[in-house]
Amino acid sequence: MEKIQIPTKVFLGNDCLDWLQVLSNKKILMVCDAFLPNTPTLDRIEKEIDDRNQVSIFSNVKPDPPLDNIMLGVEQFNKIKPEIIIGIGGGSAIDTAKAIRFFGEKLNKFKIEQFVAIPTTSGTGSEVTNTTVVSDVKKHTKAPILKDYLTPDVALLDPKLVMTAPKSVTAFSGLDVLTHSLEALVSKGANTITDALAEKGIDVILNNLVECYKHGNNEDARKIVHEASCAAGIAFNNAGLGICHSLAHQLGANFHVPHGLACAMLLPHVVLYNSGKSEEVMHKYAISVEKSGLVSANMSDRIAVQRLVNIIKQLMVQMDCPQTLRAFGVKSSAAMEKTNVIVADAKKDATFPGNPVVPTDDDLRSLYHKVV
Ligand SMILES: NC(=O)c1ccc[n+]([C@@H]2O[C@H](COP(=O)([O-])OP(=O)(O)OC[C@H]3O[C@@H](n4cnc5c(N)ncnc54)[C@H](O)[C@@H]3O)[C@@H](O)[C@H]2O)c1
Ligand SMILES: [Fe+2]
Repeated sequence: MEKIQIPTKVFLGNDCLDWLQVLSNKKILMVCDAFLPNTPTLDRIEKEIDDRNQVSIFSNVKPDPPLDNIMLGVEQFNKIKPEIIIGIGGGSAIDTAKAIRFFGEKLNKFKIEQFVAIPTTSGTGSEVTNTTVVSDVKKHTKAPILKDYLTPDVALLDPKLVMTAPKSVTAFSGLDVLTHSLEALVSKGANTITDALAEKGIDVILNNLVECYKHGNNEDARKIVHEASCAAGIAFNNAGLGICHSLAHQLGANFHVPHGLACAMLLPHVVLYNSGKSEEVMHKYAISVEKSGLVSANMSDRIAVQRLVNIIKQLMVQMDCPQTLRAFGVKSSAAMEKTNVIVADAKKDATFPGNPVVPTDDDLRSLYHKVV
């Protein structure tokens, strides 16, 4: 039996923060991205929250949320025992908020009433997913925790909040959306509904991401990319992901490559690998790029996929993204040394089973070596 669930109420547009006015007489833990304190964005959000609420802020959020940091937030959770958690920021902040909830509820044996997510990047889709990705710095591991109850109850998608994102963050997080869409599209759990969302994600990113990168204050472009990020989040939350994410998590854990960039480095190689193993997968990729208006319908699937791969690489060039670990600044010898551990950990990653074809260790090794 197949299932699709979209439990989050999603509010869109530049007036959606008004929703916060419904909160009254609540103990609120706001988990804020580190860039937010003393910004007009946080002022705007705080203004929407009625003074009768008791608000406590945790803003010591680190990229690729490390367990130690999350536990500092859990201490704050233990003290105030919040009824509401609001996670505001990039995927790292929203994931930190989810992880604080996960451990805080377990330790205190009670459930919060509501979790609200307010993304400030268009990337992870964490505002609608059941996932939080947590790093263990000492063990060099980065792994997702998946629990349906961690899916936010409410998501507020205000495009204005993304407009302050630096160019590199816009590029990397947008390429994460493309990866979510392309992996969800062909993953084992895909169905017609997730395909529709994934195809839209691909179309929007291929046609609008560079505009967001070049003109970050183009609100129309920001809005469509922000909503595509959410659509891709719903798609992969239901369909699953694949080996691009399984390997990308290892690049984050071992070499601190930002998540979306790690995905983007691997993506062209994974698309070619999966296409080479399954004609059905190749056809789905080809249809998606055709629906995006970037190839004509009479082109063969193989050529359409090659075109898709070239477009991904061009996007990376246009947005100044390094395409290998070496270009990112990792010594080849250091990267090669990690091969076995990266292959072993990728196979254990929760995203691995979603891939449409099952790779051998040698396949994973050679995919990894393509980005060394
Ligand atoms: N939970 C999920 O479903 C899911 C899915 C994919 C990825 N992830 C995880 O999410 C994390 C990546 O999230 P991300 O790509 O959003 O990056 P991020 O949250 O790490 O943010 C990157 C940087 O941008 C800054 N920033 C964010 N928004 C900004 C804004 N509007 N203005 C100025 N600065 C801003 C942050 O402070 C940070 O320094 C990774 O840990 C990744 O593994 C989670
Ligand atoms: Fe991702």
